[in-house]
Amino acid sequence: MNIGIESTKQVTSTVTLPAVRPNTSNDWKLDSSALKPAQNDLGRPRYLEFSQVSKIYPTPDGNSTVKVVDGFDLKIKKGEFISIIGHSGCGKSTVLSMTAGLNSISEGGIILDNREINGAGPDRGVVFQAPSLFPWLTAFENVMLGVDKVYPHASRSEREDIVEYYLTRVGLGDSLRKKAGDMSNGMRQRVGIARAFALSPKLLLLDEPFGMLDSLTRWELQEVLMEVWERTHVTAIVVTHDVDEAILLADRVVMMTNGPHAKIGKIETIDLPRPRSRKALLAHPDYYKYRESLLTFLAECDHTH
Ligand SMILES: Nc1ncnc2c1ncn2[C@@H]1O[C@H](COP(=O)(O)OP(=O)(O)O)[C@@H](O)[C@H]1O
Ligand SMILES: [Mg+2]
Repeated sequence: MNIGIESTKQVTSTVTLPAVRPNTSNDWKLDSSALKPAQNDLGRPRYLEFSQVSKIYPTPDGNSTVKVVDGFDLKIKKGEFISIIGHSGCGKSTVLSMTAGLNSISEGGIILDNREINGAGPDRGVVFQAPSLFPWLTAFENVMLGVDKVYPHASRSEREDIVEYYLTRVGLGDSLRKKAGDMSNGMRQRVGIARAFALSPKLLLLDEPFGMLDSLTRWELQEVLMEVWERTHVTAIVVTHDVDEAILLADRVVMMTNGPHAKIGKIETIDLPRPRSRKALLAHPDYYKYRESLLTFLAECDHTH
C-alpha cells in the first residue's frame, strides 16, 4: 500500500535570500516582517488586535440571523504563533477569513500593525487545505506569479532567488520545474507554503493546512512549516482541530467555545523550547499537561452543548 511517504531529501541550495522588501503599497516596504524581524521589533505588543469581533450569518432558511462568533477578543504580539482550536462549526474559519479580509466583520474590529482590516490584501498570506495553484504551471512559475507582484522593484535574478530559496526550504529543490498538476497533494501544499512565505506577509493565516493529508505527510509538513517559520518568525495563526498540531506549532493555543455565540473559552501558553520537533515534544514532560488541558476543554464543550 502506498501510504504517501514523501521524499524528505533536503536539497542544499546555494541560493541565499536577497535583502529586498515587498513593495506594493503604503508603509509596507518599510516593514521588516519580510526577513527575520529585528530583535527589538519582535514581540511588539498588540501587533494584531481583535476587539469584540462578531459575525452574524443568515440562518439556513434565510428567515433570520444567528451570531455565530460573539465577542472574539485577542491581542497578538509581533512574531507570535497562535493556534485556534475548537469543535467543528464553532467559527474558526469565520474568524480566520475575517482576518484575511475575505469575509466581512459584522461587529467589532481587527487591527493589524496599526491599520484596521477592511478587505483582503497581499500583506496577509493565506494557506487553505488545498492551495489554488495553476496546474499547467511549474512550482517555480506558480510561486513566481506572486513574487512578481510583490517585488516589482527587485531584479529578475533577485526574484528568482526568492522563489528558489523558499521552494528549496520546503523540500522542493529538485522539483522546481515540475508542473503543479503532476504533484501529489502533499507536494502541492509545500508549494502553497513556499508561496505564502515568499510573499513576506505581515501575517500568515493557515486554515487546517494539512487537513487533507495522510498523517505521515502531515507530520512531515508540520516540521517543514516549523523550519521555515524559524527563519522568518512571521506572525501566524493556524486553525486546526488536531490537538497535537495546535501544541507543536504555537506559542499560545486559543480555545473557542462551541457556537453559536462562540468566543474564546481558554488560552494556554505553550512554554516549550524552540526549535521544536515532534519527537522532542513527545519526550517533554510538560507536553502531556498541555495536551490534557486542551482535551479537557474540548470535552467540557461537548457536555455544555
Ligand atoms: N457563508 C455562510 N453563511 C451562513 N452560515 C455560515 C457561512 N459560513 C459558515 N457558516 C456557519 O457558521 C458556523 C461556523 O462556521 P465555520 O467558521 O466554518 O466553523 P469551523 O471552521 O470552526 O468549522 C457554522 O455553523 C456554519 O454553518
Ligand atoms: Mg473551518
